[in-house]
Amino acid sequence: MFKKLAITAVAALTLSVGGAIANEETHTEDVDFSFEGPFGTYDQNQLQRGLQVYTEVCASCHGMKFVPIRTLGDEGGPNLPADQVRAYAKQFEIYDAEKDEMVPRKPSDHFPEGTYDGAPDLSLMAKARKGYEGPYGTGMNQLFRGIGGPEHIVSILTGFTGEEKEEAGKTFYENHAFSTGWISMPPPLSGEDVEFADGSSNDMRHEAEDVTAFLMWAAEPKMMDRKKAGFIAVILLTMLSVLLYATNKRLWAPVKQRAKDETSGES
Ligand code: HEC
Repeated sequence: MFKKLAITAVAALTLSVGGAIANEETHTEDVDFSFEGPFGTYDQNQLQRGLQVYTEVCASCHGMKFVPIRTLGDEGGPNLPADQVRAYAKQFEIYDAEKDEMVPRKPSDHFPEGTYDGAPDLSLMAKARKGYEGPYGTGMNQLFRGIGGPEHIVSILTGFTGEEKEEAGKTFYENHAFSTGWISMPPPLSGEDVEFADGSSNDMRHEAEDVTAFLMWAAEPKMMDRKKAGFIAVILLTMLSVLLYATNKRLWAPVKQRAKDETSGES
């Protein structure tokens, strides 16, 4: 019984680690993001570049209506200075019911909603999608290769084959990272879509990774705090275990001594 279990476990491990393509239907590539692993953190410059790609390219169709613009100033996030956050907010208008007119947004307002028919809101997309999982959903791949949602987004953005087809009056673009193989989003990135102020590479791959890191931050801005809290919990629990072990030893020491004395007395 145990042997069988062990063989299954080993097989599951090798399958999930060894498989170049984790999911047979869709192709999700593994990407090394700075925020992966127990000590990973967001790269502030990458988040700022991602914000730029999002704003200049994706926001013409998609929205992020659950994300307050003021969070762009958060430490651990893009960390923009307050005046830049205000300037960013001002580019977008919002309906003011009191004045009955459109007014510029404030940092306390949220990012605008999407306008393009069928384009999903991206606020939580990085967490809503799974890039890969282990055999039969064991989550083995997440353990070894990262969470998968961001990998899915990078794979979608870079996974267009260039083929397209018309169906029921709509155009679909072939993309092996998408569940059905054909997505209704036209390829948004082709490389050199934006010009980064820091001179970073703006080939398609880098743009895709930068905007994806930004979307991960949008979906999970407190990831670093969560990791830190986890660490403190582990350290405290370890200290507690050591204390309990020492207390236990000490409490039972006289009893054990007595038992020892008795046995030696008998012999
Ligand atoms: C021309 C409009 C348009 C632009 C620009 C655009 N998208 Fe999309 N996007 C769509 C549409 C439409 C869908 C829905 C596709 C479908 O379900 O077939 C979509 C779907 C998605 C999805 C969901 C894929 C899934 O697994 O369901 C992601 C992620 C995404 N877009 C990211 C982006 C990013 C990042 C950018 C900017 C680099 C971007 N999009 C730019 C229209 C657009």
